[in-house]
Amino acid sequence: MLNPRNVTASAPGKTILFGEHAVVYGKPAIAAAVDKRAYVSIQEREDKKTHVTINNIGISGFLNIEQGTIELDNGENNEGILKYVLIALMKTGSKDGLEITINLDIPVGAGLGSSAAVTVATVKAASSFKYVKLTRDEIAKLAYQVELIVQGSASPIDTILSTYGGIVYLSRDAEKIIKLDIDSEIPLVIGYTSKRGNTGKLVESVRLKTESNPQVMIPLFNSMEALTNGAREALTSGDHKMIGEFMNINHGLLDAIGVNTDELSKMVYIARKKGALGSKLTGAGGGGSMIAYCPGKFKEVIESINEFENAFKLKISTDGVRLE
Ligand code: PMV
Repeated sequence: MLNPRNVTASAPGKTILFGEHAVVYGKPAIAAAVDKRAYVSIQEREDKKTHVTINNIGISGFLNIEQGTIELDNGENNEGILKYVLIALMKTGSKDGLEITINLDIPVGAGLGSSAAVTVATVKAASSFKYVKLTRDEIAKLAYQVELIVQGSASPIDTILSTYGGIVYLSRDAEKIIKLDIDSEIPLVIGYTSKRGNTGKLVESVRLKTESNPQVMIPLFNSMEALTNGAREALTSGDHKMIGEFMNINHGLLDAIGVNTDELSKMVYIARKKGALGSKLTGAGGGGSMIAYCPGKFKEVIESINEFENAFKLKISTDGVRLE
């Protein structure tokens, strides 16, 4: 039996426009919240068990908040996003006896921050369910701790974007988060492949290259930093040509550090052929997604990518986490 009181919170996914990987070496990055959200609804169960259903990806199971365990309904051990939900419930001091329903419009495993969006929305829903009002800063911090516990290492980019929304310029330590005042109608297309990259492994492979050849790698990160800072100015002044050019150079540098793939390249180059002013892989690489800057050429770029992968027009979410 469920108590009729229902609390729903939602949070957006994200895409990195400039500076991925370099951000791990203390360089700045620019990222945008994507208008695709994770919705987390919580109701009370009278039997004191905690059950979670993630619609869209067909995962459900019982969590035991007190003992920190997960038992999937289908008996498999593919816990995925449920781990983030469990740790978020533990971190917010939630008690067992919850029915949680999650709806995702964010494609999972595409580098669009679905796990952070679920984490942030769970922190918000679970705290509001207990009538506790957390500030955005508190939500971002708690959600980042959850990501660190589940993933071992993570940058705070995803949880910051899911919490605050908008377009943000930030440094690795996230001490400096600057919301950029850019038209949210920025002409970007996102293409994503079903092949997912493993962020941890990619970051590690870049670290090994950097350790063995710092004299080659560090200048590449310095160039990425210059690109991110240049892009910040170009985005603010609306200099389309320069934004596109910076994306192309950034893609080349990401290729140079070894995180590009055939699938990503194919989307990146077809977008340029169809009129994008610039395009690059986004996020960790190794699969996942790319972005294309294409004023006036959306239809052509989206259609050509959709012939072999998936693409959509990016709408920036100016709203971060919110109660529904
Ligand atoms: O692919 P994503 O969305 O997980 O982005 C990873 C971004 C990196 O800079 C490669 C790693 C990080 O933690 O910042």
